[in-house]
Amino acid sequence: MLKLFKEISSSVGKSLTKRGLQTTCALQHDSLFVHRDTPEDNPDIVFEFTPENKKRAEAILAIYPEGHKRAAMIPLLDLAQRQYGWLPISAMHKVAEILNLPRMRVYEVATFYTMFMRKPTGKYHVQICTTTPCWLRGSDEILEAIKKNLKLEVGETSKDMLWTLSEVECLGACVNAPMVQINDDYYEDLTVEATNEILDELKSGGKPAPGPRSGRFAAEPIGEPTSLKSEPLGPGVGVRADL
Ligand code: FES
Repeated sequence: MLKLFKEISSSVGKSLTKRGLQTTCALQHDSLFVHRDTPEDNPDIVFEFTPENKKRAEAILAIYPEGHKRAAMIPLLDLAQRQYGWLPISAMHKVAEILNLPRMRVYEVATFYTMFMRKPTGKYHVQICTTTPCWLRGSDEILEAIKKNLKLEVGETSKDMLWTLSEVECLGACVNAPMVQINDDYYEDLTVEATNEILDELKSGGKPAPGPRSGRFAAEPIGEPTSLKSEPLGPGVGVRADL
């Protein structure tokens, strides 16, 4: 029995040295869930909404009825991030102050959603999806091309603060895989060549057209439709005798 136990322990020990228990990419790209004061991100840095954004914040708050104003938290955090370029802790405090909530309630939301960047982020935030459909359609090659083009690893920001590269989970455009999101735009049906064209155009100050790079308009089949080709039948067909 003791011999068997030793054999099992030894093989478990060996397997642990061969592969990590954690295989998700999250640790490579996500920031810490906890806050650490840094010179560029600490509560002493004052954050105020600009006059235009104050008006936007008021318009956002007006959408929600009394007693439910806290539902404005995500839009307000998003507004703060768009103003600042990323979301420092002092902006979270400002949102907590506006909503009259404990700061912890805002930290909970800001640390949960990966759309909130809690450290300085480049002008262009390149988010590559590597979830299964995109992976099956070649996201590994696209990621390699981006790393090579931008000379960045996942989770890094370029020194000139122009680029940040993140690896993310499904962005909901699987039918146009592989794809990347750059700021608010989706670039889909990517090839290595198309990816390099997009990045090079951004580097030269251009604005590449978002959407699929395969020539299709949206998510319609490439080529001829293969299903649902006949005119749709009206409601009630097969159920009502008069149809
Ligand atoms: S898997 Fe990439 S967008 Fe859904």
